[in-house]
Amino acid sequence: MSYSGFTDTFGFFWAWLSNPLRVAAVVPSGRALSRLITSEISAGTGPVIELGPGTGAFTRALIARGVAQENLALVEYGSEFAVKLHHRFPRARTLWMDASRLKAVELFGGVPAGAVVSGLPVLSMPPRKVIAILDGAFARMRPDGAFYQFTYGPTCPIPRPLLDRLGLKATQIGRALANVPPAAVYRIRRRQPRPAAGGHRRERTDLIDVESATWC
Ligand SMILES: C[S@@+](CC[C@H](N)C(=O)[O-])C[C@H]1O[C@@H](n2cnc3c(N)ncnc32)[C@H](O)[C@@H]1O
Repeated sequence: MSYSGFTDTFGFFWAWLSNPLRVAAVVPSGRALSRLITSEISAGTGPVIELGPGTGAFTRALIARGVAQENLALVEYGSEFAVKLHHRFPRARTLWMDASRLKAVELFGGVPAGAVVSGLPVLSMPPRKVIAILDGAFARMRPDGAFYQFTYGPTCPIPRPLLDRLGLKATQIGRALANVPPAAVYRIRRRQPRPAAGGHRRERTDLIDVESATWC
């Protein structure tokens, strides 16, 4: 392991000790997971937003796939990570903020992003926060944009009622068994609006009890 790899791993572990719920992993993601979560992204994707970059494992993979630093917005809540990211990727825009406030900031001069890559620990977040994160992310993306989320869990980390409420669908794009621990990556996209089949069909999002939604 290189010197910077060692300091990243040690710094990450230290951050986890200080705030286990926010950091939610003992070590940074490995190469297999970084490659998988960025596998559908290229320079042609346009601007990319990364949520919870930590020490920058996915950021490096995005750059290796041809995404220019200028086309990256790094949204990180941990000050220990945000400062490092700013020094490490000086031409990317690092935002030291809560990802649930994404809707309030303008990025890339108003040009919508083509993808969002998330390392956020959504399983340990309350449903309202997850909704704010997804709502903000999709507000900042093109209609064909995709949100990539990894999980250590056995199924999609966003509960089905939340996906339904926001008009989204999730598809697993692969598993990184070589990661510690093994992880899976989900692509979340907007659902195609269904053509109305005669008469009026109103969405009843008010029927979903968000607070009692269970994690799938
Ligand atoms: C599981 S770590 C993933 C780090 C990195 N992406 C990786 O895979 O190695 C979660 C990261 O999300 C950040 N984070 C947690 N809650 C956040 C929030 N509400 N807004 C922005 N970043 C957050 C943590 O500080 C940490 O860097």
